[in-house]
Amino acid sequence: MNDTARPTHGPHSAYDPGKPELYRVLAMELDALLSDEPDPIANTANAAAAIYHALPDLNWAGFYFLRGDELVLGPFQGRPACVRIPIGRGVCGTAAAVRQSVLVPDVHAFPGHIACDPASRSELVVPLICGERLLGVLDLDSPQAARFDRADVTGCEALAAIVVRHLAPSVRRTRTPFVIFERTGLPAAVRQRLMRARLP
Ligand code: SME
Repeated sequence: MNDTARPTHGPHSAYDPGKPELYRVLAMELDALLSDEPDPIANTANAAAAIYHALPDLNWAGFYFLRGDELVLGPFQGRPACVRIPIGRGVCGTAAAVRQSVLVPDVHAFPGHIACDPASRSELVVPLICGERLLGVLDLDSPQAARFDRADVTGCEALAAIVVRHLAPSVRRTRTPFVIFERTGLPAAVRQRLMRARLP
């Protein structure tokens, strides 16, 4: 990772008029980047890289995907991260459980925060929802306290919607784990084994 190529803008104030424009441009770039490619791993890998390099002051950006009753690490940029997060645990598991964005200005004050990179000080997690179905979460970490605000929530929810739109064709194909296990009556142990054998 060449961190010298990353933006290192100063701390954002609570109201930063530049953020909406930054997210507007990034959303257009992301949409173009994911167009014409149906592979969900390729698309989420490129999405993680685009977000990580476009937004200042991040130390982690990436995806966790729902596998049964836990989240499993997907494509990301940043330091190696914990692989499995039960729904309801940590910031990611909480966002997945409530199906809403969770903004944490100080991760040390969040009960149950899972520290993957000790440098992380604040975090924003946005659920990926396709119709009624939770696909996973988009997770952003920053080494700055209070790095994220309402503009980031709005902007990242728009980015997540673009990612979901490009994942939707593979979600609809019932061979993906997002769909298949909700439609089968397989015992939980069998579902778990099958899910671990499949990629998104
Ligand atoms: N901090 C997250 C875990 C994922 S890492 O930040 C990449 C959490 O508490 O869910």
